[in-house]
Amino acid sequence: MAQEARTTIYAVANQKGGVGKTTTTTALGAALAQAGKRVLVIDLDPQGNATTGLGVDGRRFENSVYDVLLNGVPIADVVEPTGFVNLFVAPATLDLAGIEQELTSVISRELRLKRALASVDGEFDYIFIDCPPSLGLITINAFAAATEIMVPVQTEFYALEGLTQLRRIVELVQQNLNPTLQITRVILTMYDSRNTLSGDVAAEVRRHFPNELCQTVIPRTVRLAEAPSFGQPITYFDPNSKGAKAYRALAEEIMNG
Ligand SMILES: Nc1ncnc2c1ncn2[C@@H]1O[C@H](COP(=O)(O)OP(=O)(O)OP(=O)(O)O)[C@@H](O)[C@H]1O
Ligand SMILES: [Mg+2]
Repeated sequence: MAQEARTTIYAVANQKGGVGKTTTTTALGAALAQAGKRVLVIDLDPQGNATTGLGVDGRRFENSVYDVLLNGVPIADVVEPTGFVNLFVAPATLDLAGIEQELTSVISRELRLKRALASVDGEFDYIFIDCPPSLGLITINAFAAATEIMVPVQTEFYALEGLTQLRRIVELVQQNLNPTLQITRVILTMYDSRNTLSGDVAAEVRRHFPNELCQTVIPRTVRLAEAPSFGQPITYFDPNSKGAKAYRALAEEIMNG
């Protein structure tokens, strides 16, 4: 009997800015793609950092995820190959910044992305939706379309701040739009092993997310911060770096379920 193709769709979310959502999306996406999985990154952030971080210039194309959300363009029509094997991107452009206002009077405005995804049904093993640092309509679209939520958490004193609010939004989406949605993966980023605070924060996050916290921890390293300006995920930019190794280990953890 033919096995039904199944796509895991992660919304990568945390309304806190600069915690490593985009870095995790591109690096983990690339690591899974290099391991032979077909991976699509959907850039839902008007800043377009996932798009440029994958070496793609979103302005070159007629359509972007803006047209997907506002004009009902199927996501398949905006998917572009990156220069990296098995890795594809649905690019974001700056016009996405105004879309929450533009969508207010649109029917089923929370389900625009979910419906657009039907056009790539079964084509990818993993889809990563890189969310903006907010819990507005764009992120709700990601939550409605996702099968799971992945939350990168920066290993710092206020790491857990905002996660109660995030959980409340997830509950609302469960009740109204996507009954099986859950936060399944929490990832500690920018971990500094020389700093005792990092260990304390890790213990605190584990207490709140005992089953969700990934074993693999992402270290703070300059190479990870440098990679985006070269338009390359870390696993290509510096394959032997600590950051690349960490994201490959995380990919293994994800593939092993
Ligand atoms: N492990 C790391 N070590 C060092 N720098 C990192 C690490 N992870 C991410 N960075 C850098 O920190 C900054 C924020 O990371 P990133 O863009 O991935 O966060 P984000 O959550 O997507 O931010 P935003 O909320 O603005 O979308 C970037 O400059 C990135 O290069
Ligand atoms: Mg980002």
